[in-house]
Amino acid sequence: MPADPAAHDVWDVGAGYDAYIGRWSRLVAREVVAWLGAAPHGRWLDAGCGTGALGDAVAALAAPEVVVGLDRSMGFVAHARARTGARRAFAAADAQALPVRDGAFDAVVSGLVLNFVAEPARMVAELTRAARPGAAVALYVWDYAAGMEYVRRFWDAARALDPAAAALDEAVRFPLCAPGPLAALLEGAGLGSVEVRAVEVPTVFRDFAECWAPFLAGQGPAPAYAASLPEDRRAALREAFRATLPVSADGTIALRARAWAARGAR
Ligand SMILES: C[S@@+](CC[C@H](N)C(=O)[O-])C[C@H]1O[C@@H](n2cnc3c(N)ncnc32)[C@H](O)[C@@H]1O
Repeated sequence: MPADPAAHDVWDVGAGYDAYIGRWSRLVAREVVAWLGAAPHGRWLDAGCGTGALGDAVAALAAPEVVVGLDRSMGFVAHARARTGARRAFAAADAQALPVRDGAFDAVVSGLVLNFVAEPARMVAELTRAARPGAAVALYVWDYAAGMEYVRRFWDAARALDPAAAALDEAVRFPLCAPGPLAALLEGAGLGSVEVRAVEVPTVFRDFAECWAPFLAGQGPAPAYAASLPEDRRAALREAFRATLPVSADGTIALRARAWAARGAR
């Protein structure tokens, strides 16, 4: 197992990511865009756009002039570009050094990215710089410690079998993903009227196969950890994870996912 936990932050294959987290990020994204209540015809920036979940919500709900998605993963950028249409633009870029003019956007958003960058304060400063005066800057991250049940149960099972997995658990790696630290980061970047709220969405799986398969696609820390295990240990983890789940009589598995969403005004 690599010594650096960030080596497990694999973001490459769009379809695998969408089946794992993208599908749930989409539900949070809709709530966050509605929360912003931005005026139509705005220019939006989606930093760390991945496969386009948050930009899709902007396009569907906010009548934007354009949504620009930037992400470091060439694979995700290509995937997003191929599946979206008019008023969308994508490019590869680092969210900590955005290749955009100061104040170029009417709204700046980012979903599930902040905890994965090396310097979160630098990223928030960049999001703020990209926003015009008065514009909203908003982001969300999972509540890895408790509310993102799907990922939480995975790491609980992994840690029970392998003490070394604790160092990879996103709750351990990312204490930033909590209301106090998020508010402090936004305020530290000079944003005003900062608010943090919980956004809860249902994460319902048809059956255990649908619930487990995304962990085999290797996209993101938990799947990359699962992929790093030899077959016998991966099978043991699968059964330990299965044992944590509330499986209904019809086979469905209904979990909840909570994100912390933060917003401020430039
Ligand atoms: C959990 S995914 C979130 C993707 C998308 N925003 C969503 O909500 O589905 C994390 C994303 O952050 C991107 N990322 C990580 N570090 C980055 C950086 N320094 N600059 C830009 N993107 C980054 C990854 O490539 C990946 O697409």
